[in-house]
Amino acid sequence: MSSISPQQLAVVVAEALAAITGAATGDELKQVRTQFVADGSPISVINSTLRDVPAAEKAEAGKIVGQARSEINQAFAARESVILQAEEHARLMTESVDVTAVASRHRVGARHPLNLLMEEMSNIFVGMGWEIAEGPELENEWFNFDALNFDEDHPARAMQDTFFVEPVDRHLVMRTHTSPVQIRSLLTRELPVYIVAPGRVYRTDELDATHTPVFHQMEGIAIDKGLTMAHLKGTLEHLARAMFGEGAKIRLRPNYFPFTEPSAELDIWHPTFRGGARWIEWGGCGMVNPNVLRAADIDPAEYQGFAFGMGIERTLMFRNDVADMHDMVEGDVRFSQQFGMVI
Ligand code: PHE
Repeated sequence: MSSISPQQLAVVVAEALAAITGAATGDELKQVRTQFVADGSPISVINSTLRDVPAAEKAEAGKIVGQARSEINQAFAARESVILQAEEHARLMTESVDVTAVASRHRVGARHPLNLLMEEMSNIFVGMGWEIAEGPELENEWFNFDALNFDEDHPARAMQDTFFVEPVDRHLVMRTHTSPVQIRSLLTRELPVYIVAPGRVYRTDELDATHTPVFHQMEGIAIDKGLTMAHLKGTLEHLARAMFGEGAKIRLRPNYFPFTEPSAELDIWHPTFRGGARWIEWGGCGMVNPNVLRAADIDPAEYQGFAFGMGIERTLMFRNDVADMHDMVEGDVRFSQQFGMVI
């Protein structure tokens, strides 16, 4: 049996209150809590001795210990709320936004104008019910040349400056044009075929203002029953008008390609060309050579078609008045952004 001394209790309370008032930060208050409020602190130890107090003293002892505890608890709660408020205030002060500060700028990328141009051209064909096709850039020589009616020793094969890929006996080339996609499409699709194939092509040119060894073309091929040169001309005319306005027109000049017969050079009348409207060379086209149809197992007596191909860099140059090809390959986002193509 033990009794509780009011003097001892008063000392414990006084110590606790002094510690509580002395705590200046949340961390200090935490320590105070462990030392003077929580389990194991003097007041809680005293509290636990209550059960040993003789029955006659219990009521009184319980009362004074209860008062002492609640005094400490209230002081603690009051101090805690003051400190929390002060800390919250300090946090808000340091966190406050300085609206006059220069913001850190995250640059937003821009899609490359060549990609957007290919997409725009593709969309015009999709609008006519054509499909988009693709082929590999590392291409088999057979698709790039042989199937397109380039003879083994045909000078036309040398006409395009080809990157041949080692080992030479694998007959791989970096495709010199998108025309191999003609053959790939004919071999894998049901007739009739109406496809455009935008993509990257390679030739051994030095990079200068008007050449680049890696560039883009847009191929088109249509194979159906009864297609004529008139369909070719009408299709290209529509493309020209959709891209350059109602004032645009096209003209075909005789030319030679092994995979088309007859073949033509495609010129476009560019109505808004800076420095005045004029004819500009745009690409090549023609009626698909029967030998190409045969290479794809199609009977030329039953099906005919036309094909065309144009350079995308060239198109961007005369459409948007880009003077130097370097700008297109260097990848400076500021060039792309000029086209208003930020995403
Ligand atoms: N492939 C030819 C070139 O790169 C262009 C072309 C495509 C010509 C289709 C006729 C038909 O020059």
